[in-house]
Amino acid sequence: MGLLCCIKRELRNSIWLACIILLPAIFVVWLLRKVLRARRPPLEAGAKHVAFFHPYCDDGGGGERVLWTAIAALAERYPGHQISVYTGDTAADAEIFARVQQRFGLRVPDGVRLVRLRSRWLLDPSYYPLLTLLGQAVGSVLVALEALLRLLPDVYIDSMGYGFTLPVFRLLGGCRVGCYVHYPTISSDMLEAVSVGRAAFNNRAQFASVDALRWMKLAYYRLFAQLYGLVGRAAQVVMVNSSWTRAHVVAIWGGEGRVSTVFPPCDLERLQRLPADGPNGQRRPCVLSVGQFRPEKNHSLQLESFSRLLRDHPEETTDLRLVLVGGCRGAADQTRVNALKALANALGISERFELRVNVGYDELLELFSEALVGLHTMRDEHFGIGVVEMMAAGVVVVAHCSGGPLTDIVDTTEESRTGYLASSARQYAECMLAVLRADTGYLADLRARARKSCDRFGEKPFSDDFLRACRPLL
Ligand SMILES: *[C@@H]1O[C@H](CO)[C@@H](O)[C@H](O)[C@H]1NC(C)=O
Ligand SMILES: *[C@@H]1O[C@H](CO)[C@@H](O)[C@H](O)[C@H]1NC(C)=O
Repeated sequence: MGLLCCIKRELRNSIWLACIILLPAIFVVWLLRKVLRARRPPLEAGAKHVAFFHPYCDDGGGGERVLWTAIAALAERYPGHQISVYTGDTAADAEIFARVQQRFGLRVPDGVRLVRLRSRWLLDPSYYPLLTLLGQAVGSVLVALEALLRLLPDVYIDSMGYGFTLPVFRLLGGCRVGCYVHYPTISSDMLEAVSVGRAAFNNRAQFASVDALRWMKLAYYRLFAQLYGLVGRAAQVVMVNSSWTRAHVVAIWGGEGRVSTVFPPCDLERLQRLPADGPNGQRRPCVLSVGQFRPEKNHSLQLESFSRLLRDHPEETTDLRLVLVGGCRGAADQTRVNALKALANALGISERFELRVNVGYDELLELFSEALVGLHTMRDEHFGIGVVEMMAAGVVVVAHCSGGPLTDIVDTTEESRTGYLASSARQYAECMLAVLRADTGYLADLRARARKSCDRFGEKPFSDDFLRACRPLL
């Protein structure tokens, strides 16, 4: 009896305490929102302030193409809405917009505003040599606070993957909140890498070997994953750029119903306009591979598959050639290029093998229009834009049977085939042989289907999917 009373009293006290702290806090937040809303430039009735968090909007990568294509789609569909971008870039608006036009061929719609952030440096990972993830997370919350104070939007969309900014705008700003995720900040792969002691890029080598440190690092990652999982729940709409990202985001954020896969817009127009049957009505017996000379691309598997094909079917491959095209940056890449040449020698295929380093875009287009088969050998690639580009150009792909090529890109059902998938040298050789043996009509149909299937990675489907996914916010 006495115990129950005691518990009741304690409960009553803590409710009082909570009220004393909470009520003023709620009042302050309410006041803050009111003041910030009153400060905004007025819009027509029903129009909304939409703001994108993209602190590096003046870069020229895939993430920026997503941003500006999304903005163009929104502005067209909702002409009354005021669209703003939070950015730390300091160039003049006109300069930044001109670069968007030049890089992506996109006109930035009139009325788009850039809201400048002074605190962007807080996002720079080099300020956090230790506990980088946590440091950046706290930094991004501070940057988000600055953004919120400069402009309180009705709809907030993070397009750079700063998950910790989401609750700031949802709870403090009372906004509707969405995000576009290219890559989860922490994934189960990273947790696994630490727990098995593998030295990865973000896992300093000395950490991997010492048990106690590894345990601490794992605990830290787990804690961070919990926090990251929590903040992700603040988003009402989550867009992901691929099935790979989707699986990881759903695993950590849950709430599958609000997650939509929206493939980023790829620039495929010029490739899709190349003549499907090659420049002279016939493609050359050429196997093409395009990619950086990096170990994970597994170029040696390409050489082995090719040499196997030549060895097993000499009569059907009399003038077949293998051309590897790729960017070579720095000494490490050059070492790999030399190793590939040595391997080609050892396999006795150097007569049939060509390495072209750092070719220009026009030369690449020429190769795309001439080559018969395209090789891709990277395991577990998250997407595989290179595979899409070859398909768009009319090159018949033999891609690695994993990751994006398997889940998102290549269809190997016989009636609707758009390419081939393989994982061992023997399978690659068999698939290449199948292409060499296929008759012209079959290949023409396959090519046409493959090209058409790339439409889903274009600008129009991106815009449609983006608008559909964002509807609950707008
Ligand atoms: C999604 O983003 C990641 C990280 O930038 C990238 O590796 C992947 O290729 C992207 N997927 C698509 C479909 O572009
Ligand atoms: C390359 O492919 C072969 C055959 O599948 C595999 O054994 C090897 O581990 C791969 N190498 C890399 C770096 O992925």
